[in-house]
Amino acid sequence: MLNLKNKNIVLIGFMGVGKGTIARALIKKTKRFGLDTDDLIESMENRKIKAIFDTDGEAYFRKLEKKTAKWLEKNVKNAIISTGGGFFKVDNLDDIGTIVYLRSSFDGILKRLHQHENADLKLAKRPLLTDEAKARALFKDRSVLYEEKADIIIDVEDRTIEAIVKEIIAVL
Ligand code: S3P
Repeated sequence: MLNLKNKNIVLIGFMGVGKGTIARALIKKTKRFGLDTDDLIESMENRKIKAIFDTDGEAYFRKLEKKTAKWLEKNVKNAIISTGGGFFKVDNLDDIGTIVYLRSSFDGILKRLHQHENADLKLAKRPLLTDEAKARALFKDRSVLYEEKADIIIDVEDRTIEAIVKEIIAVL
């Protein structure tokens, strides 16, 4: 199981696809430590992602992602790393670890978010998801880029967390 010695597992994919949920299940199963890039940024800045976007804008947030990526490359090994939906654009993604793209259709993502009991909260904390048409266009632009960046692609739509985690562990 997970014979990639010391290598981080980096989960990428669109907002709301379930990176955090799948990361937590993988952490439990593999007994590795877990980190989330949005959480790292929020603790570095001592404020929420939404506040960073509202006050300083997206460009500033992207700089923080780059800083986080450099820190991860230098300091973290053997971890499960979940990322924000735009984190895959950092220059050194490949140097952080094995990249696993969690793939779903846009409608599958919306369905998943709306099924959640805290659906409103999930949408409210994601500034780039507030306008559905814009989010759909962003999804379209990014879909091919995620695939290009991925070492491994895992289809997650309409599957249980258990089945997804099992597949990730089997292919790594
Ligand atoms: C973003 C995704 C968010 C967060 C920020 C920007 C994006 O993370 O990093 O709002 O550009 O797709 P999640 O994918 O966890 O929602």
